[in-house]
Amino acid sequence: MQQKFPLFQSHLDLAHHYWMILLKNGDWAVDATCGGGQDTLRLAKILEKAGGGGLIGLDIQEEAILRTQELLQRNLGSEIFKKIYIYKQSHVNFPELCTTVPIKLIVYNLGYLPKGNKQLTTQAKTTLESVEKALELLSPGGVMSLTCYPGHPEGAVEEKALLEMAKELPSSHWNVCYHSFPNRDAGPSLILIQKNSNRQIKKDGNLWQFNGTETKFLKTFLCFRGS
Ligand SMILES: C[S@@+](CC[C@H](N)C(=O)[O-])C[C@H]1O[C@@H](n2cnc3c(N)ncnc32)[C@H](O)[C@@H]1O
Repeated sequence: MQQKFPLFQSHLDLAHHYWMILLKNGDWAVDATCGGGQDTLRLAKILEKAGGGGLIGLDIQEEAILRTQELLQRNLGSEIFKKIYIYKQSHVNFPELCTTVPIKLIVYNLGYLPKGNKQLTTQAKTTLESVEKALELLSPGGVMSLTCYPGHPEGAVEEKALLEMAKELPSSHWNVCYHSFPNRDAGPSLILIQKNSNRQIKKDGNLWQFNGTETKFLKTFLCFRGS
């Protein structure tokens, strides 16, 4: 971290700080957008220190997968490397492995691959579909960390859609927090969504089930579906 603003420089510094506090012995994390691998590497190092269970990474681009694997190989020891599973696939469908391990953190760093094809950016429709599934995958007390880039057109649509979705999550089940930089024009932001740590919460149709009991109706937020 640079020292210009010693507490934090960016939304990513904030995100990393929260990941570090959250991840503990045995926990698993998912990097839903590996890109150049910087976040995957950061997660791997945090998990290594915490005695984490493992790390799952996804990206749709071959170039991103290769860059991530190369970065990890150069910077990690063989023990933690064995606990990392990288998939070239969309986060719209999570790998089967995600349903068999306790997922404590799911990270999305949205947008396009740095120094890559800007057309291959994350899309609001698919991001929302993925987030809906990710909410169910999280263990009790688990967190979703979404970094958004409203400075480009699709990024602005995506951030707006995510905030609309997040606002509808019942506060008894989900703690939602939004960090932004109001003195920066269309600056990046961080959305954190934490699952109630008391019980597992599952979605059944449009209803969130809490301890087997129906609770607040969740307004259909997948407004992009079918459009
Ligand atoms: C901003 S980059 C991620 C940066 C990365 N976390 C890092 O530290 O370098 C966003 C990545 O999301 C990927 N992406 C776009 N749509 C995706 C999807 N549906 N599923 C998985 N990855 C996707 C892009 O290929 C791109 O590499």
